[in-house]
Amino acid sequence: MERGKAGESPSEYNRIAIETAQKIHAIRQSEGKRKPSFEPAREDHFPAFDRTGLGIILEYERMGNRPVSETLESEFQAQDYSLEHLGLTIGTVVRGIDLRTIDAAKAQLLRKLLLERKVIFFHEQNLDEDQQVALGRHFGELDAFPFGPPGENPYVLEIRHGRNSPGIENRWHTDVTWMERPSLGSIAQCIHAPPFGGDTLFSDSYACYLGLRAELQDAIEHLDGVHDYRVFLSQRAPGTMPDHLLKQIQEEIPFGVSHPLVRTHPETGRRALYLHGGFLRHNSLTDRRTGEVLDPKESRGLVRELLSQHARPEYTCRFRWGQGSIAFWDNRAAQHYAVSDYFPHKRVLRRVTVSGDRPFYRPIPEN
Ligand code: SIN
Repeated sequence: MERGKAGESPSEYNRIAIETAQKIHAIRQSEGKRKPSFEPAREDHFPAFDRTGLGIILEYERMGNRPVSETLESEFQAQDYSLEHLGLTIGTVVRGIDLRTIDAAKAQLLRKLLLERKVIFFHEQNLDEDQQVALGRHFGELDAFPFGPPGENPYVLEIRHGRNSPGIENRWHTDVTWMERPSLGSIAQCIHAPPFGGDTLFSDSYACYLGLRAELQDAIEHLDGVHDYRVFLSQRAPGTMPDHLLKQIQEEIPFGVSHPLVRTHPETGRRALYLHGGFLRHNSLTDRRTGEVLDPKESRGLVRELLSQHARPEYTCRFRWGQGSIAFWDNRAAQHYAVSDYFPHKRVLRRVTVSGDRPFYRPIPEN
């Protein structure tokens, strides 16, 4: 045990500590009776260098200090659907719904929930490929991808891992930022769940932005970064794609597209932290107002700091998959991380993605 002063025994140290604590307690008791001269601002409860807790408080406050708006909650109740919220600001499981039979009105209801909760979940749906594609089409056009082993339907991407291919989606990301118009959202269904592990974590990109230190928010407000899919190609498993197709992709899809680091959500008008560590060129940050490219060291430093933000547990919720479970996430408002902790067991997801808009930043006051 650490000693108080040289020569004092641990028990002597404890006696001094206890006496000091008693004195401080007595002072606090007497001060407590006095009326405080000022009410500290909420921000004052958090050190300037770590606003993580504040980010989640601000986001929850914006949501009306409720996980979901009263109106929307009543609309779900009216349908006899129940809602189980996994995190304070992100992630809700919807029960009592059959996704094979939804119509436009029910899809609209789910879309409203997605906008409020950033990711929504369902259990025991067991949709076949066509049904999953039909579900996706309720929310817009679908994207098809030239990479990775497809399912039978070109709009379906199979994410399959097992003994010969451990999970590799275990980095925080938002999908396909190498595209000029990255997907609005992804709808993944679990076809085969591992006996243990294989959960997916989701992180709230609005709260992540709100939780950045004020100077960092200012520093990145007008910055764009270049996203490039070559990293992805270099990581593809051997044999997943014939060389002539790979060459065709490289010729037809341009390398590098600029996206803002702070993205205005086109439907909610909210600001979200938007980056993908695997696709973003870390030395590419540029001020979009002047065209000035940041010094590479500064650019890499900013990216490094930003990349740790989504990983903070305060911003996250965690989803445990079962066969037939579905997660529908909003790529504009959340990032995800598939935990790779189930090797050598098999885990198979099937994903369809809803087409999105070109990301933009609009410096307007938040609602
Ligand atoms: C993905 O990154 O889209 C896959 C998510 C998952 O495997 O849980």
